[in-house]
Amino acid sequence: MCGIVGYIGWREAWPILAAGLHRLEYRGYDSAGVAVVAADGELKVCKSRGRVDELERMAASHDVTGRVGIAHTRWATHGEPNDRNAHPHCSASGGLAIIHNGIIENHAVLREALEAEGYGFRSDTDTEVIVQLIEYIRDRSGCSLIEAVRGALGELVGAWAVAVVERGEAGRIIAARKSSPLVVGVGEGEFFLASDATPIVEYTDRVVYPADGQIVELSLAEGLRVTDMAGNEAGVEIEQLRLSISQLEKGGYPHFMLKEIFEQPGTVVDAIRGRVDAGLSEVVLSGVRDNRERFLGARRIVIVACGTSWHAGLIGEYMIEEMCRVPVEVEYASEFRYRDPVIEPGDVVIAISQSGETADTLAAVEMARGRGAFIFGVCNVVGSSIARATHSGAYIHVGPETGVASTKAFTGQVTVLMMLALAVGRLRGSVTAEFVADKIKHLCALPGQIAGILSRAAEVADLAKNFTYARNFLYLGRGYSYPAALEGALKLKEISYIHAEGYPAAEMKHGPIALVDSEMPVVVIATTDGVYEKTINNIREIKARGGRIIAVVDHDDTVVRGIADHVIEIPRTCPHLAPVLASVPLQLLAYHIAVNKGRDVDRPRNLAKSVTVE
Ligand code: AGP
Repeated sequence: MCGIVGYIGWREAWPILAAGLHRLEYRGYDSAGVAVVAADGELKVCKSRGRVDELERMAASHDVTGRVGIAHTRWATHGEPNDRNAHPHCSASGGLAIIHNGIIENHAVLREALEAEGYGFRSDTDTEVIVQLIEYIRDRSGCSLIEAVRGALGELVGAWAVAVVERGEAGRIIAARKSSPLVVGVGEGEFFLASDATPIVEYTDRVVYPADGQIVELSLAEGLRVTDMAGNEAGVEIEQLRLSISQLEKGGYPHFMLKEIFEQPGTVVDAIRGRVDAGLSEVVLSGVRDNRERFLGARRIVIVACGTSWHAGLIGEYMIEEMCRVPVEVEYASEFRYRDPVIEPGDVVIAISQSGETADTLAAVEMARGRGAFIFGVCNVVGSSIARATHSGAYIHVGPETGVASTKAFTGQVTVLMMLALAVGRLRGSVTAEFVADKIKHLCALPGQIAGILSRAAEVADLAKNFTYARNFLYLGRGYSYPAALEGALKLKEISYIHAEGYPAAEMKHGPIALVDSEMPVVVIATTDGVYEKTINNIREIKARGGRIIAVVDHDDTVVRGIADHVIEIPRTCPHLAPVLASVPLQLLAYHIAVNKGRDVDRPRNLAKSVTVE
């Protein structure tokens, strides 16, 4: 989703802004643009539909020199993706330029009011309203730019991260955020601004995360100043960034997604590291230990998340109910936040989010927090909005995930949820020490088992060749394998654009079986667990109707092998962790089918990595 970059300092801004836009490409976008203030105060804007490469080509024939600038990648919400709607947007006089990530819900009424005052609009965006409003306030009252920005933001309903530059003012950028991410990098005599830390990391490891409702002034003369919406000074807390450039590169892989799939033996180790005691008998999660009364007293647990994180949440539900004997509900954050749910003090809400910036999950957290629930975050991005809005949590520590299709974050989330269930189960006395020790053994075996699956990746690549031209896919599983089936289907559809549905295997007979014919590949996760025999019956039902079965089975399975058209073997583990192992070959299957179809695997159409609008 939209990406923001800004620079002010002693270097030429454009090369830094262009590199930053490339770093933010993974978020998904359809146009890009830049505004630079030259040394003589001239404000130069250059923008176009399409990729950052196109903007760079365009900028090569425009003068974009200057040491102060803002740049943007736009993921269209209001108005189609074209040159006109690309950011930056300028005020009527051309004296101000703005970039924006978020949605202004009351843009129509503000636009109407400004039009009535004689302001003309050049785009269909909600963003243009903000810059016109800033200029209107300043023209009418003669106030300073920051006061006009504060006044305009006070009129807005919605979410924003904005950055504003001004003609004639080659020494200042004003930025602000509410419910959309923004990070400030603090260098020597220079400042950086971005939607996340990836464009900043090669210049400085000192960052400031402005809080919701704060306004940031970056000035060459006066340094960094942070104020709130009332104009009160806010403290500036500089944090150290723990991110390296090598984590942001492809490292020889053709796509980030493939690199991230292959990183999983290491990322699962990172998720477990320091959380299992030396005797391999206890899980120690500081977020649980420090809040033991909350988990002991919990009447119920509600999990909120979106997409892949929601699938991990479903596995978390099964684990926590089984091991902690406390009722768990899993909610799509987007539904939860708007349906007036019963949330009371004493409830524990677990928010799962890779990016930590998903707008619906953040809003769900804020609502539940407002109603007195204890909020526990399972996030990847350290310092992200959701991580900061929670009372406590456990990071999954899988490193930056750049491919739009989530892979290593999913396996990291399931790993952390398993540890959470074990820690809380032990706390509540609902699982024995022996049970925990046995599960720790399985957890510690995961990295080696994933490495084993990856060593046979070529077999999945071969298999994928048979299905490149399939038009539909079904993914089935029961018990813990059901969420893994949902996740397998999501991976395939988002990067290959093949229609794929995940279903509980037994639900087949209640409708979807009507779709099965000899053209229909059906992926069934049939690992050995309490419902293995039942899953075999479901496979037979599909075969009887001519369906083509691709079965994910334990390496020593003999029964399903005799019925399925193709098998993908995975090592044996406990049922709780089988989704981690099953998801790895399904990630590879989706990846290779998408590559065979020539899809843009890391940046699939219409999708954004960080969904920062609802
Ligand atoms: C996964 O492959 C997706 N692209 C998407 O469903 C994602 O999981 C969802 O948008 C939630 O994101 P989050 O984990 O960053 O909150």
